[in-house]
Amino acid sequence: MRLDDAGLQQLFLAARTHRAWLPREVPDATLRELVTLAQLGPTANNGLPARFLWVKSKAAKERLFPHLSEGNRDKTMKAPATAIIGYDLEFFTHPPQGQGPLAGFADKPDAALVYCARNGSLQGAYLIMAARALGLDAGPMSGFNNAGVDGEFFAGTSVRSNFLCNVGYGDPAPLRPRGPRFAFEEAAQIL
Ligand SMILES: Cc1cc2nc3c(=O)[nH]c(=O)nc-3n(C[C@H](O)[C@H](O)[C@H](O)COP(=O)(O)O)c2cc1C
Repeated sequence: MRLDDAGLQQLFLAARTHRAWLPREVPDATLRELVTLAQLGPTANNGLPARFLWVKSKAAKERLFPHLSEGNRDKTMKAPATAIIGYDLEFFTHPPQGQGPLAGFADKPDAALVYCARNGSLQGAYLIMAARALGLDAGPMSGFNNAGVDGEFFAGTSVRSNFLCNVGYGDPAPLRPRGPRFAFEEAAQIL
C-alpha cells in the first residue's frame, strides 16, 4: 500500500538533514527500536555487517569530540544521541544467531571491505529512514577522523567506523532551503 501524503512528507518530501536540535531527550528504548528497524532492511545474503554504537552520555561524547572535524563538533555535542555506524570486517564469521557463517570471504579482505562498504552503508541509510519514520530527525556526518574513532571505540576488534549520525528532534529554525536535486533525465534512464 502506498503511503499517504503525510507519510511521504515525513520520510522524504519534508525530511531534512538536521544540524540543530530541540532540547528533547531520546530514550534508550527508542535507540533500540531504531536499530531493530534498521536491521530489517536487506543486506546481501543477510550478512548484516553494520554495528551501531550510540554515543549518548556526556562522558562518551567527550571521547568522540577530539575526533570530530571542527564544523561537526558543536552540533554533535548538542545532539541527543550520535550513532557511530560501523561495520564488522569479520561479519562473515559473526552471523546473527541461527544463521551460519557466510562462505567466500575468508582470505579475501578486499571483497569483505567492498561488502561492508556497500551493505553497511545501506544499513546506515535504513537507520536514517527509521529515524524519520519514528518522527525523529537525523544528521549524518563523514567529517571525522575514522582512525581516531576506531582507536577510541573499537580498539582490538574487527569493527571499523563508516559514518556518524546525530539523532534527535531537529530544530527547523536554522534550516536553509534544500539543496537542488537532479531532474529524472539528468540522473536516471529507463531502457
Ligand atoms: C554520508 C554523509 C556524510 C555527511 N557528512 C556531513 C558532515 O560531515 N557535516 C555536515 O554538516 N553534513 C554532512 N552531511 C549532510 C549532507 O550535506 C546533507 O545530507 C545533504 O546536503 C542533503 O541535505 P538535506 O537532507 O537537507 O536535503 C553528510 C551526509 C551524508 C549522507
